[in-house]
Amino acid sequence: MSTKGKIALIILIILLFAVIAYLIWPKPVEYSSRTVIGTVDLPNPKFTGSMSVEQAIHDRRSVRKYTNESLTLNDVSQLLWAAYGVTEASKNFKTVPSGGHTYPLEIYLIVGNGSVKGLDSGFYHYVPQNHSLEKILDGDLREKFAKASHNQLWIKEAPVNIVITGNDDKMMNKYKDNKLSIRFVDIEAGHSGQNIYLQAQAMNLATVAIGSFYEDQVINILHLPSNERIIYSFPVGHSAK
Ligand SMILES: Cc1cc2nc3c(=O)[nH]c(=O)nc-3n(C[C@H](O)[C@H](O)[C@H](O)COP(=O)(O)O)c2cc1C
Repeated sequence: MSTKGKIALIILIILLFAVIAYLIWPKPVEYSSRTVIGTVDLPNPKFTGSMSVEQAIHDRRSVRKYTNESLTLNDVSQLLWAAYGVTEASKNFKTVPSGGHTYPLEIYLIVGNGSVKGLDSGFYHYVPQNHSLEKILDGDLREKFAKASHNQLWIKEAPVNIVITGNDDKMMNKYKDNKLSIRFVDIEAGHSGQNIYLQAQAMNLATVAIGSFYEDQVINILHLPSNERIIYSFPVGHSAK
């Protein structure tokens, strides 16, 4: 075989290997939408409490040690309402401000075994309009989620974890500006997160903001739709401090 022929053969073999490697390389999983396997109605949230907003702001602290005590469905209802509940149904206003009245966030709940009285372990999607939960996955995902959150142990010790994702495309449809849209979605998640902190404080519960994740792992574990991006999560429980 001529030198040119040999070079051509080597290039062909390299190309062949590249194509095979591309085909067998594990691709990130893509879930186009949520698959709902059940629904749960939540009790109505309360609009009065025993702690002033000033006191809750003053006392709020990030807590990373929780007792084994379970939460109630009322606790879960109140926390999720504070995170993203509807406050004026006729105009679809929520507990958080939203750039352009767009509401690009989705709120989820990871529930451990025996963690919430009246709620099986699993992964749930919060539906603000009905104040209800859609069950997406069965089982206690806290340990896997803790590992996917840079091994932060308090995540698997808290009875529940509230997860906030954002849909940047929703904001892009409104503003047509990529950087602005991502910024607006992230800022909105911050508003929701502060509500969770203050609501937990007012209920004598404890939480901490979690911003560190291996995004691919989270998508795999929680089957997040491909148009959603994980932004924040909040383990919530009774403080062990
Ligand atoms: C954007 C953001 C991301 C954070 N990520 C984490 C995290 O991944 N893990 C954690 O333990 N704390 C996290 N925190 C909590 C901070 O460590 C905490 O707020 C800070 O130490 C101040 O304490 P304080 O919240 O009690 O005032 C985060 C806070 C913010 C605002």
